Amino acid sequence: MSRIPLIAGNWKMYKLSGEATDLVKALIPAANSVDYCEVAVCPPFTALSVISNLVKGTKISLGAQNCYPEKEGAFTGEISPAMLKDIGCKYTIVGHSERRKYFAETDAFINQKLFKLYEYNLLPILCVGETLEEREAGKMKEVVGSQIKKGLANVPEEKMQTTVIAYEPVWAIGTGKNATPEQAQEMHLFIRALLGEIYNATLAESIRIQYGGSVKPSNVKELMSQKDIDGALVGGASLKSDQFIPIIKFRD
Ligand code: 13P
Repeated sequence: MSRIPLIAGNWKMYKLSGEATDLVKALIPAANSVDYCEVAVCPPFTALSVISNLVKGTKISLGAQNCYPEKEGAFTGEISPAMLKDIGCKYTIVGHSERRKYFAETDAFINQKLFKLYEYNLLPILCVGETLEEREAGKMKEVVGSQIKKGLANVPEEKMQTTVIAYEPVWAIGTGKNATPEQAQEMHLFIRALLGEIYNATLAESIRIQYGGSVKPSNVKELMSQKDIDGALVGGASLKSDQFIPIIKFRD
């Protein structure tokens, strides 16, 4: 089992081009200095071009936060996987809880995005996670299991191999209240076992499952020490170099 952890910053709707440039310039030396994880940043669409040029030849990978599942067409305001590939993206986040909640994205629509990303050799980061009400009702495995099954419907094994899963409990996003390492590990193990059922144990062992939700310098080490946690999808703490650098260097 050799899963290289992926530490990715999801900048959400933050950072003008100049601010994004300053942040990435500060992150490059840190990312280049670690060999035990891969680092990615997912800026807003408007900063992808400038950041793509900056990270060339560095150890920072580029990701987008969303896409529309068509190559091109009359879809005003949307961005296609072909465009993301063209600009230098390696990853694309899909199914983030904010998109599910504010933009009514369904598992079926998210599934379409995965297939279109695969066509352009982009690696999807598929986000799943339960709300507080669902957790309190003891339904977290039911909810996350359904998101995984529907999100990955008909995804063949060779495409699954290129997919990253991010477990992001909605109650932990932007709240400062992270899942405990034990709570996260339990869900990651559940997801991996489910991937084993859908595919096979060998494939399940090779898939990276990130944790997201209030990851900070103070909790990253403990979260990352869990057997089935293979990286972090970081929101707020990825917006400041003095917080994201210690997260990147979680093992130093
Ligand atoms: P926070 O790290 O701000 O809780 O956000 C997590 C997240 O949504 C990453 O995709």
